[in-house]
Amino acid sequence: MTFLEIIEKKKKQGTLTKEEIQFWIENMCHGNLPDYQVSALLMAIVLNGMNMDETFYLTEAMIQSGEVVDLSSIEGIKVDKHSTGGVGDKVTLILAPLLASFGLKIAKMSGRGLGHTGGTIDKLESIPGYRVEMTKEEFLNQIKEVGVSIISQSGNLVPADKKLYALRDVTATVDSIPLIASSIMSKKIASGADFIFLDVKVGNGALMPTLEQAEKLAHTMIELGNRFGKKTVCILTNMNEPLGRAIGNALEVKESIDTLQGMGPEDVTSLVIQIASLIVKDTEKISKEEAERQCFKKINTGVAYAKFEEMVNRQGGDLKKLEISHRIFSVRTPKEGYITKVDALALGEIARKIGAGRLTKEDKIHYQVGLVLSHKVGDYVKVNDELVKVYLDDLDVRVNDILECFTIESEEPKPEPLIYETIS
Ligand code: URA
Repeated sequence: MTFLEIIEKKKKQGTLTKEEIQFWIENMCHGNLPDYQVSALLMAIVLNGMNMDETFYLTEAMIQSGEVVDLSSIEGIKVDKHSTGGVGDKVTLILAPLLASFGLKIAKMSGRGLGHTGGTIDKLESIPGYRVEMTKEEFLNQIKEVGVSIISQSGNLVPADKKLYALRDVTATVDSIPLIASSIMSKKIASGADFIFLDVKVGNGALMPTLEQAEKLAHTMIELGNRFGKKTVCILTNMNEPLGRAIGNALEVKESIDTLQGMGPEDVTSLVIQIASLIVKDTEKISKEEAERQCFKKINTGVAYAKFEEMVNRQGGDLKKLEISHRIFSVRTPKEGYITKVDALALGEIARKIGAGRLTKEDKIHYQVGLVLSHKVGDYVKVNDELVKVYLDDLDVRVNDILECFTIESEEPKPEPLIYETIS
């Protein structure tokens, strides 16, 4: 078998065998395949697709390319959660300690942000002292003793994905359901949890622009999870406007703390409670309503926040030292009316340009900067009302660029659902 024959077969819409897919991934990881040949195969897959068996073999070969985390020494149900990424998405920071407060074990390895969406690890690194790198032993001990740990993804977890993702990023081959599903699920399965919860974001600020594509991705990932014997649940959620009000690292940590203390924005609170109750109803064998009631109780009695503090302290972080920039200005509306659209993607890009995210992998993040929305879709604003508070460091932003992210019209918009559907 030669790699050229494999490219030729996919180009002619053939179905690749398990052996052919293993040959590809093994040889790529050993440096035996030039990037241009791998890129040619990736483009053939984007154009001609892969069936479920091929997607499974690809996921399996990717998992086998590196280390697989063994969580079997930890008692209890090990839960992992993944979001396909959105602007202002701080759900993991709130959900992980909330679930741990039920005795579930959360072994979470997260990534850094690249692009317009922030990464959980960057958000946690805005807490002075928080260690995102730990030894395997420290990580496992913390999960056993505290119930939750969020660390940076190990360098040797699915190295095939690192190689493929870097090529996909520069060859316009990211947007393929089998490639996205195998990339996400290989990392989740290699991370060792029993229960995988996936939040697929849909809309303008998200990887999946339409509900139809998001459903397809969800079904593919659930089928992969099932084939590996993992309980997998998927929720499709709205990303047509930023989640919550805060965009930017320390600002999002602050909003997460507010939410854990029962004072968070309505959409963030509602999404976290919905996800947590879907998991807790299954693990505790109770009704969804009872699970929701118990989740609210964990927040209202301070138990969930105490778990967050415990996790942060154990990882060396000091929440009292969390700092937000003091260089603040307000962007005000020149127009009266209803806010009918808030462009999540454009606001994510603005946050990135003022330093909240990276333009290249080497860029340093300014943890204290960002944006806080004073109003969201559906609100009525008068001339000169504040739309956004901007927190700056040494980089500037044009007011007009921010104003262009808001559409203000005379007619009240129809409310959009926060959660489209749950698939399991
Ligand atoms: N996130 C991933 O981890 N992989 C993809 O391919 C897309 C989003």
